[in-house]
Amino acid sequence: MKTNDLSRRHFIGTVSLSTVGLAASGAIPVIGNTSGNTGKLAILGGDPVVKNKVWPQWPYIDEKMIAQVNETVKSGLWGRINNPKNGTVARFEEEYAKMIGVKGCVATGSGTQALNTVVEAMGIGPSDEVITSPYTDMGTIASILVSRALPVMADIDKESFQIDPDDVERKITKNTKAIMPVHMMGQPCHLERIIAIAKKHNLRVIEDACQAHFAQYQGKTIGTIGDAGCFSFQTSKTIACGEGGGIISNDEKLLDDCYTVQNHGTNKQGQSVTIGSKYRMNELEGALLLAQLSTARERFETRNRNAAYLTSKLKGFPGLRPQKLYEGTQSGSFYLYTMAYHQEHFNGAPRDKFIKAVAAEGISLSPYIRNGLHREPWTDHILTLNEYKTMYSSERLKKFKEELILPNCDHVCANMVMLWASGPLLAAESDMDDVINAIMKVYENRDKLNSI
Ligand SMILES: Cc1ncc(COP(=O)(O)O)c(C=O)c1O
Repeated sequence: MKTNDLSRRHFIGTVSLSTVGLAASGAIPVIGNTSGNTGKLAILGGDPVVKNKVWPQWPYIDEKMIAQVNETVKSGLWGRINNPKNGTVARFEEEYAKMIGVKGCVATGSGTQALNTVVEAMGIGPSDEVITSPYTDMGTIASILVSRALPVMADIDKESFQIDPDDVERKITKNTKAIMPVHMMGQPCHLERIIAIAKKHNLRVIEDACQAHFAQYQGKTIGTIGDAGCFSFQTSKTIACGEGGGIISNDEKLLDDCYTVQNHGTNKQGQSVTIGSKYRMNELEGALLLAQLSTARERFETRNRNAAYLTSKLKGFPGLRPQKLYEGTQSGSFYLYTMAYHQEHFNGAPRDKFIKAVAAEGISLSPYIRNGLHREPWTDHILTLNEYKTMYSSERLKKFKEELILPNCDHVCANMVMLWASGPLLAAESDMDDVINAIMKVYENRDKLNSI
């Protein structure tokens, strides 16, 4: 008898009638290679599904990276300006753009800086509006605020967790200059519709691809579809150097302007021509990035394979529904593997009890963003600032506040469960089975969840 048959037989033998019904209808995932731990919940004194689970180390470190950093340290050329053509930052920019198939890349000190550089290079500032998502890192919104433009929040989709194109279109005003869609968890948002809306209303598109390195959509790489794409290389990301960022584009003039902005307004010819902060990436960060590029694609593929495996195991299971991917999605970065938790299929147990029970089985899941950024105090703070009071009418600011009712974002914040994926999705398929088995063991015992 195959292991899966055994597991399924054992599983069905221990579950309630309603579960048997679901299994018979094909709605229960086939359990992976269990070690028989389908009995009492570990949180109630049973044996855990897995003991002392060790995931692949993140951030990724190898000898090539150490050697490149060593070499850069010894060179004493630590700033890109000391070695503008042959330094690690310049070589990384060239190599990253080549891998993605785009005209060029400008490195910065963070993803937030990359986004703000594009905002500035596009001339977006006070009295302008940029539509973005409340379900993101604060860096997205900060990149608009530091230019004293108005970040207008569009709600998200409950199944894909991505910005909702319909709400984007509703939020366009005569002052909207750009849309900043975010590819959350590293998977493409509904870019086809966003681009169509942008074209219709003559708006720029700045893709926040901070989590979405190498993701493919409709035959193109994420970040190359809008006017510019911005990446983060902060430690947790799937390509990482501590803090770092990058802008890619096929628009050479925009790339040139971005270089100038991130170089405190000084262009490649050495003339100080505009306003810009100093956002330069340093050579040690460049060394870490350059040295990991040759193996990054392999890790990307492993994450996609493991994500597809998890999703196949959860197919039809009503309790946890993996992030919906839009048609045209060929691959994702899988920075995070996320699922919508459906409490009603876990005997009404709140998400935190489910997470606690799964953790006791040896698998760490967690909520992601607990509060949409429309609920953070910055929305009140900007209303007190002279520049906002001067540059935006009181009616506009009142409308801005009134529009911060975003129920889908609130719903996703309250119900999302994630497996952090940068490291864990590099593990073996049997490790993915452990994840599924822990979830399913808790599901089998859902009638006990409310007592923990
Ligand atoms: C979606 C998104 N946008 C922007 C940022 C900001 O990037 P950084 O932290 O490198 O400034 C992040 C980082 O977490 C992010 O996840």
